[in-house]
Amino acid sequence: MTAKRRILVTSALPYANGPIHLGYVLEAVQTDIWARFQRLRGHECHYVCADDTHGTPIMLKARTEGVTPEALIAGVHAEHARDLADMLISLDNFGSTDSRENESVCRQMYLALRSSGYIEKRVIRQAYDSSANMFLPDRYVKGTCPNCGTADQYGDSCEACGATYSPADLKDPISVVSGTAPVERDSEHYFFRLSAFEESLKTWMAGGAVQPSVAHKLEEWFSQGLKDWDISRDAPYFGFEIPDAPGKYFYVWFDAPIGYLGSLTQLCARTGIRFEDFLAPDCGAEMHHFIGKDILYFHALFWPAVLEGAGMRRPTSVHAHGFVTINGQKMSKSRGTFITARSYLDAFPAEYLRYYFAAKLGPGIDDLDMNLGDFAARLNSDIVGKLVNIASRCAGFIAKTDGGRLAGALPEPGLFAQFTAAADAIAAAYEGHDYAAAMREVMGLADRANQYIDQRKPWALAKQEGTGEEVRGVCTQGLNLFRTLMIYLKPVLPAMAAKAERFFGETAWNWESASTPLLGQPIKAYAALASRLDPAAVARLVGTAPEPAPIATAKAAPAAAGTPAAAPLSIEEFARVDLRVALIVHAEYVEGADKLLRLRVDLGELGERQIFAGIRSAYDPATLSGRLTVVVANLAPRKMRFGVSEGMLLAAGGGGGDLFLLSPDAGAAPGMRIK
Ligand code: MSP
Ligand code: ZN
Repeated sequence: MTAKRRILVTSALPYANGPIHLGYVLEAVQTDIWARFQRLRGHECHYVCADDTHGTPIMLKARTEGVTPEALIAGVHAEHARDLADMLISLDNFGSTDSRENESVCRQMYLALRSSGYIEKRVIRQAYDSSANMFLPDRYVKGTCPNCGTADQYGDSCEACGATYSPADLKDPISVVSGTAPVERDSEHYFFRLSAFEESLKTWMAGGAVQPSVAHKLEEWFSQGLKDWDISRDAPYFGFEIPDAPGKYFYVWFDAPIGYLGSLTQLCARTGIRFEDFLAPDCGAEMHHFIGKDILYFHALFWPAVLEGAGMRRPTSVHAHGFVTINGQKMSKSRGTFITARSYLDAFPAEYLRYYFAAKLGPGIDDLDMNLGDFAARLNSDIVGKLVNIASRCAGFIAKTDGGRLAGALPEPGLFAQFTAAADAIAAAYEGHDYAAAMREVMGLADRANQYIDQRKPWALAKQEGTGEEVRGVCTQGLNLFRTLMIYLKPVLPAMAAKAERFFGETAWNWESASTPLLGQPIKAYAALASRLDPAAVARLVGTAPEPAPIATAKAAPAAAGTPAAAPLSIEEFARVDLRVALIVHAEYVEGADKLLRLRVDLGELGERQIFAGIRSAYDPATLSGRLTVVVANLAPRKMRFGVSEGMLLAAGGGGGDLFLLSPDAGAAPGMRIK
């Protein structure tokens, strides 16, 4: 075995404004398998992560929910920690970017950058909402695309024609926060001089810190020239104030990667490992970041430059993965393909998903489709049909003879040697992030083990007289092949491996344990390690609208006495009303309006709309997001004091104050026309 390595590993920090979903689970599982593999090999490996808590979206979400940002992120943190633990993610510390430790590392690094001349002040013009008294990030300004004239586009780019621009270019711009027209205002910002690091970043990249396909992407960015990076935001902002700059805050993407180090600081305080041993330029430790391909710019350009500028070591590697799709589709709430970690865990064991992801994860950045039929078939064939089958076919015969002891020697040492000879190739595959290759290798060996058992047929042998020793030999062989494979799979299937360890009467297998057979030892009673997946149950993971809101839709609206029936209407007249199923994506109170809620609704093919609805008296906005309802989609937009309403929500109710939103039956999709 090679010398003991000291390794720090991270997964990207999940945003603290939503649940852990299967896309993030892929990332955590990819990181966790690598970290567990390193530990199994005897290396010192620490795995840290944190919630990403700062920035405008979280500040505004807390406002909408009527809680402090601190309360919002505390609730999410507890949920995230539980989801990750239940997915068997072996984090050594799961912190928060809003921690004291992170603030202190941010300050230190910023001050180091400043004193080395890497921070520059510049005045920029930005959209400002003078009724909400805040500067607006590009995504919080909407208006008509200056290029193609499509209405309701974000301030950075047009979804219809793909043009990119700045909010100032939009026609009829509106602040998403207040619905008023923004103005332009100057503000002093702090910039990090990324351009000063171009040469050293190129050298870093050439040293193999990123995958070849990623290096390609970076070269493109280099050829466009590196722009200096605005790392400050004006109050009000949920984040850390910049030293000596009252009212200015670190931009969320500045303190987020530093969050890795804030989390490490907490781990150091708890365990006695030392920060400098992982971050000093010549510390000799490794630092590996696992991320999705969408956040490469931050991790492969900004982050190594910030580290270097602050006098610290750069990452050993930044490893990117592709995106999880479900049944070939992007994960999307409106399509019902958004699967949370929790809804998966409520139905199936974590390790089934861990194995499936491992079996599909190569070293590159291709997207990974989770086809639910394929998932069930793969699990039933590989884990139940191949792997566990080896043990379940052999264990019973050992229990029946000689006090449940394994034989003292293997009848086929050559076959066992073939299994141990695969160790290096499997280790190299794990090390190189090619888990799919490692799983292929292991399953190929499982096929061979099953062939051996099929040939020797212990169940038939056992029926003959005087074959007790032979049966024991065959089963000892089979169980040792199984044991070797379980050791190879321990990074992927840690709970099953722990059960198998107990079955063999062992503790804490390491990688080397696979190279010597277990002989002459008593083994415990065998309990089933995995059971078949029902494909129909798996298919039910998708297709239902997310989190149906727990509100009383069953109550019928009382017929309001004295409401006369309206005048007759021709079918043609009625057909002019475009009624659609709408998914409420977001709902919030409108400051200064005591009857209204502001809603964002998804109308499928018609896109997203903003609608003001007079339902504040009957509904808490927090209970509305995720629910389906019905809107009039072709009502002419109405300009209200708070913004433009682009449709009308339908609700039953009389004049008495009680209101009842309409809901389509389960299965309806946003955008469906109501006829
Ligand atoms: N908070 C930032 C990361 C800061 S790291 C210093 C962020 N958060 S995120 O919640 O949007 O994403 C967290 C990670 O999950 C990212 O690496 C992202 O690529 C990954 N994924 C998000 N959706 C995904 C899929 N559908 N599939 C695979 N990974 C996905 O970005
Ligand atoms: Zn356009």
